[in-house]
Amino acid sequence: MSGFSAEWLALREPFDAAARATAPEASLGLWAGKRGGPLRIVDLGAGTGSNLRHLGPRLPLAQDWTLIEHDPALIAAGEARLPRSGEIRARYRRADLRSELESVLTEPVDLVTCSALLDLVSAEWLGRLVQLVQDRDLALLAVLTYDGRVSLEPGLPLDADVIGLVNRHQRTDKGFGPALGPEAGIELARVLHGAGDQPLLALSDWSAGPGDRSFQRALVEGWAEAAAAIAPERAAAIGSWCRDRLRAIEAGASRCRVGHVDLLRLPHGQRGPA
Ligand SMILES: C[S@@+](CC[C@H](N)C(=O)[O-])C[C@H]1O[C@@H](n2cnc3c(N)ncnc32)[C@H](O)[C@@H]1O
Repeated sequence: MSGFSAEWLALREPFDAAARATAPEASLGLWAGKRGGPLRIVDLGAGTGSNLRHLGPRLPLAQDWTLIEHDPALIAAGEARLPRSGEIRARYRRADLRSELESVLTEPVDLVTCSALLDLVSAEWLGRLVQLVQDRDLALLAVLTYDGRVSLEPGLPLDADVIGLVNRHQRTDKGFGPALGPEAGIELARVLHGAGDQPLLALSDWSAGPGDRSFQRALVEGWAEAAAAIAPERAAAIGSWCRDRLRAIEAGASRCRVGHVDLLRLPHGQRGPA
């Protein structure tokens, strides 16, 4: 199990919402708005339902969501927040996406979506996803895929080294085989292009300022842990880097930007105006 806590997902949710690119959402909304009936949506690796909470109210039609998640604690936290009435219906399905991807997409579906998932998966798994999406000509909205770019202010001499180690850690197995990590977004675009698609790719960077202490603290501590896991022999230097960064955060002197990408694929012959 990849081990994402509900607390971390709640902490990142407003930063995700602010970061998400508007152009793919707008194109998706135009395409969806032309359709009749409820849009059938499958959200892969749904966590506590952040993607549903963001996208649901922005799509101009009734929706029927299935949230796929393997972690029972996240499902319990998310179920308590599902919409109970109105135009959006939603339910969880517990499944392990590594072995059950094909089976969760056997149900009728119009849009496959995922948020902050693809950097965890392997090239082999991404290929399976693309094959399913193209074979069935489904819409795909994959948002908030980490792309390896991090900028930190004030700069410290060890920043680039630590982020380099973090990006190596991103490539380790997160339950799907060797992870694509920072390459995932561009790899998805490449594979789709190779099969004749023209996906829309847009940046969706997190931006945190001096007031965002809890979020920045969690990021820096997570980065230090990941970097030390890759280079245990450098644990002391990484620990000292972490303490310096935490001091800057507490002093209200720290900003950071963390690169992500959003990608939209629309079905052939049904694309709305760009
Ligand atoms: C970074 S979190 C993102 C959660 C949510 N999409 C969001 O944006 O808040 C990745 C999610 O993928 C789920 N996940 C990871 N591996 C999975 C697997 N093999 N099967 C199903 N879900 C998985 C995790 O439990 C977690 O909820």
